[in-house]
Amino acid sequence: MFARTVIRTATKPSTASRSLRAAYATAATSDPQHFSASAVDSMNPRGVEIARAQRIADQGFISAIGNTPLIRLKKLSEQTGCEVLGKAEFQNPGGSVKDRAALYVIQDAEEKGLLRPGGTVVEGTAGNTGIGLAHVCRSKGYKLVIYMPNTQSQGKIDLLRLLGAEVYPVPAVAYENPENYNHQAKRYAEERENCVWTNQFDNVANRQAHIETTGPEIWNQTEGKIDAFTCASGTAGTIAGVTRYLKTISEGRVQCYVADPPGSVIYTYVSSGGQMTERKGSSITEGIGQGRITDNLKPDIDLLDGALHISDDKSIEMVYRCLDEEGLYLGASSCLNVAAARDLAVKLGPGKTVVTILCDGAYRYADRLFSKKWLHTKGLWEAVPEHLRKYAVLD
Ligand SMILES: Cc1ncc(COP(=O)(O)O)c(C=O)c1O
Repeated sequence: MFARTVIRTATKPSTASRSLRAAYATAATSDPQHFSASAVDSMNPRGVEIARAQRIADQGFISAIGNTPLIRLKKLSEQTGCEVLGKAEFQNPGGSVKDRAALYVIQDAEEKGLLRPGGTVVEGTAGNTGIGLAHVCRSKGYKLVIYMPNTQSQGKIDLLRLLGAEVYPVPAVAYENPENYNHQAKRYAEERENCVWTNQFDNVANRQAHIETTGPEIWNQTEGKIDAFTCASGTAGTIAGVTRYLKTISEGRVQCYVADPPGSVIYTYVSSGGQMTERKGSSITEGIGQGRITDNLKPDIDLLDGALHISDDKSIEMVYRCLDEEGLYLGASSCLNVAAARDLAVKLGPGKTVVTILCDGAYRYADRLFSKKWLHTKGLWEAVPEHLRKYAVLD
């Protein structure tokens, strides 16, 4: 389906450092005064390996997507006796895991002939997908139109507009209502030539991005020594695609758990063996939680070994712990994932390797996550460990 996979394969550390040495060694023969392998070694006294160096991203922004580091969460690993690893998706060039999906839904539309030069991309989103699409559209020369509920903050509208998107905030009505922002996005595309609705929830090109890139990267980075994977579901592209890949390559050995916030139906659906309940409650996490089984999740939901319910208290506690103990400034969905990885490590017992997704950074959420007033309003102040409340620097 995707003949032109632009997401690069990571350069192996040893090869990279060897080839650098070889280059200098070759140079040394022509200019022995200035170049020698030992001179190169002396410039690197700590023996730092060029572990993540990529070659030039020759197709611009899009070829810089993916190949993110897998970071060992040191404190959590010590505490659980497991290797707890987070895939640093916040290091994608648009700042989140959604860069991968944005690239794949656009490539898919191009390959199906639905999007041609000068065309327009339309999506219903207020979050990271819009940001990823905006970058990819600029990089490829497409126009981007975004529909979103008018309950979203002005900051989100401004951000998408300054990234070049045309933004339509529309009344926040239920999905069943034809005026819902998703339906409006769909209609916009249907009424125009060379215009595509990327439909992130039910377009399986989203899931394909994670089958072809995120899953293989995790497998290669752990050299196949991964025992379990967990992350939350928004469109479910990430959980479904990574689960499909890891289950396939490990012949079912890697255990995969979906993590779910309050107000979402996925936890109950998976743990009850397929009963759909009404959506109740809500969560402070953004981009995750779902009221239905999306087309991205449908083909893979039966592969899941189980589900983990993570409260907002646990997610918030982890926001502060990741910052203080790991030096990681992460958004709430990432921290829900880390809390789920911790719970899964405890469940599986010491000696296992558990991987999760660090979806994005805390930058866009700082005015809430680190505000005393907001934490009190949401009843989450007590969830922040006392010795970490010093990080809540905003009033
Ligand atoms: C911050 C954040 N975390 C997690 C997700 C969920 O990823 P997926 O849509 O692949 O389920 C999203 C999706 O938009 C997101 O914006």
